Amino acid sequence: MKKLKIGICGWGNVATGLFNTIKNNNDKIRLNGNLDIEIVVIGARRDNPKCNPGDIKIERDIFDVIDNEIDVVVELIGGVEVARDLILKAIKNKKHVVTANKAVIFHHGDEIFNEASANGVKVLFESSVCAGTPIIKLLTEELSANNVTKIAGMLNGTSNFILSNMEEGADFKPILELAQKEGYAEPDPTFDIEGMDAAHKIGILSSLAFGTPLPPGDFYVEGISKIEKIDFKYAKEMGYTVKHLAVCKNNEDKIELRAHPVLIKDNSYLANLKSVRNGIEVETDLLGTLHIAGSGAGQESTASGVVSDLVHLANSNINISKSTKKNKCDLIDFLSLSFQYYFYIKAEDIPGVMASITSMFAEKGVGIESIVQKEDLKENMVPIVLITDPFIESDHKDLVTNILNLDSVNEVRSIRIETD
Ligand SMILES: NC(=O)c1ccc[n+]([C@@H]2O[C@H](COP(=O)([O-])OP(=O)(O)OC[C@H]3O[C@@H](n4cnc5c(N)ncnc54)[C@H](OP(=O)(O)O)[C@@H]3O)[C@@H](O)[C@H]2O)c1
Repeated sequence: MKKLKIGICGWGNVATGLFNTIKNNNDKIRLNGNLDIEIVVIGARRDNPKCNPGDIKIERDIFDVIDNEIDVVVELIGGVEVARDLILKAIKNKKHVVTANKAVIFHHGDEIFNEASANGVKVLFESSVCAGTPIIKLLTEELSANNVTKIAGMLNGTSNFILSNMEEGADFKPILELAQKEGYAEPDPTFDIEGMDAAHKIGILSSLAFGTPLPPGDFYVEGISKIEKIDFKYAKEMGYTVKHLAVCKNNEDKIELRAHPVLIKDNSYLANLKSVRNGIEVETDLLGTLHIAGSGAGQESTASGVVSDLVHLANSNINISKSTKKNKCDLIDFLSLSFQYYFYIKAEDIPGVMASITSMFAEKGVGIESIVQKEDLKENMVPIVLITDPFIESDHKDLVTNILNLDSVNEVRSIRIETD
């Protein structure tokens, strides 16, 4: 049986979950993974009242963990710059690294992988995307004979929790507060609800599937904070629901990378994944469309992914760090893409308002697939809901501004429609 001596850096949620998983599931890991994991040292700048590490050595300075006799540094501190320094120091000291940290891989992945390859060690990061739900090694190993053409995923559990509850009639603010109370959302939820967390994850998946750099450069990121529950009502009437989708796609040898809310068909696979679940669709040439779903957060599911990396380290010769494998690809200009759009326009209920709004679309050459004037709102306002034909993204901002400039209009909201 293989043996790995590990040092864990950080002593929070995931680290203590990993400690308990290794302790409680040791027989399973030995049997299924052919691996005996010994936790030699823990880097904890303070004790964690929720977990007693027994007689395992504690280093109060996480960087001192690296100086111990260990094969692997497990980085579970989160954040970007200190985590980068820690990982690079571990690599230079010829230690393998396992991390659950999407932010550090997104911002410094190429540098880290290059350094690892120069020092003959590996860096594994299964839990950085969708916690332990297998996607990294699935892309890099199981699908190695496939040409991946598109990956689309709901990669942020907090956003999916909020949107699924809004679909059932909840308002954004109270459901965000509930998510925070239940521990699904951070006290500062900005990263989750403004799309950055999902953007980090799709950036990592894109690097693995298409060789885009890490960091990948600017791409379009929008969160869910402007979605209203009424959007779900109108979307449903047209056979859609609203989800937050992160997408990477090979588009004529340039890579489409984006993370934003979309309307998707309400009978689709992803539309039916509710609450905190993460879900991913991978389109491939040999296997067709593959669906993966599972818990995208939580100490147990994240520990599951970390252990899978340790098992891989002990038993596989494959190096999944993409910098050694892929040619670099450029990102496509988001403004050159075309989308169908859902528009919600709140306008005064006066004669001619519909004509003035539709003329704004005509001016930009944007076709309208359907348009409905809904029941009255208060104060003589009416909602007008329409679906456009596909039009180029570079016209979108101007179109919204032009509609908002109409005296009779006081609110415009638009959501892209994901059609394939
Ligand atoms: N939680 C999840 O469900 C989940 C899922 C997937 C991936 N991840 C990733 O896993 C990593 C850990 O997340 P977590 O939820 O376990 O976070 P956490 O509960 O906040 O724990 C972080 C730990 O790292 C320590 N730490 C942070 N910065 C440090 C520094 N500069 N020096 C020394 N110690 C430091 C913290 O110490 P103090 O307590 O003293 O601050 C704490 O012990 C993150 O990268 C996260 O993105 C988490």
